[in-house]
Amino acid sequence: MNASSDSDLLSAIGNTPLVDMSAGFSDQSRVWGKLESFNPGGSAKDRTARAMVLDATAKGLLYPGAVAVESSSGNLGIALAREAVVGGWEFHCVVDPRTNQATLSMIAALGAVLHPVTEPDPDTGDWLTARRNLVAQLKDSLGAVNLDQYSNRAAFDAHDQGTMREIVEQLGHAPEMLAVAVSTTGTVGGCLQHIREHGYDTKVVAVDAAGSVLFGGARGERILPGYGAGVVTELSKEVAPDRVVQVEAADAVHAARSLARSTGFAPGASGGAVAWAVSQLLEEGAAEEVVAVFHDDGRAYLDTVYNDEWADAQIGDAK
Ligand SMILES: Cc1ncc(COP(=O)(O)O)c(C=O)c1O
Repeated sequence: MNASSDSDLLSAIGNTPLVDMSAGFSDQSRVWGKLESFNPGGSAKDRTARAMVLDATAKGLLYPGAVAVESSSGNLGIALAREAVVGGWEFHCVVDPRTNQATLSMIAALGAVLHPVTEPDPDTGDWLTARRNLVAQLKDSLGAVNLDQYSNRAAFDAHDQGTMREIVEQLGHAPEMLAVAVSTTGTVGGCLQHIREHGYDTKVVAVDAAGSVLFGGARGERILPGYGAGVVTELSKEVAPDRVVQVEAADAVHAARSLARSTGFAPGASGGAVAWAVSQLLEEGAAEEVVAVFHDDGRAYLDTVYNDEWADAQIGDAK
């Protein structure tokens, strides 16, 4: 992605490593990890934020002194908080109780204003709906612009021209299979856009949370931040992965912990879900070469996914 200058922090977004993670999977297959934690904000959401901000700035919606409000499970909040510093605008971030404490602290450290919702939506029991309702209120009361990551197509372009283009270049060919965790579906949608545009035959697997309604199924409680959604996002209506795998929180936690000890890379919660899904797919012989996108790493999850007491309390088994 182009940044506003060649040397500022934003120019460090993208070009993340693709590393061999086959050691984490008990199979003859080759598994590659696209490590999005190497972005300056520590997640793939740096790419999404950059694309949305460039687009909004070009449209005259963002400028020094403007006010923006966005709902985030955390990573986009960090990315937009930094964009706000560089762009000279004010950022208000609506979060819910599932957001990692370290992530909240980082958003605040970057000078953004946090607006935690304390109750889920009374009609649906969904936290994301509650967050989006508060965004609508703040948009009016603050006179703020809302870039709306759930419907903003700039995310598709970011991951089409960034993430997926890089994977093909780094690998030297289009992978047989790609596994990507989904929430807004901007990441997987952008990768799909690139794959379809270039006529690649890569099979795309969306890794969703059990209890998410993104691609059908009943709404249920989701305790991990980052992947899954309690609403069908605008973007997801345009996204048609070859396969959707829903992952239980306990499986994601176990797989994250196991991957950390087998490869030396500790993924975030959604990365644990991706690792679990990839193991299942390899076991059933669905592919021999898989690229797994790891949206972030485990640093913000040390008090949850990687904490024995938390894991015992939340999923009843820390091992
Ligand atoms: C850790 C993590 N994993 C996966 C995702 C899903 O990405 P997307 O919203 O592009 O579907 C997100 C999005 O916030 C995330 O923060």
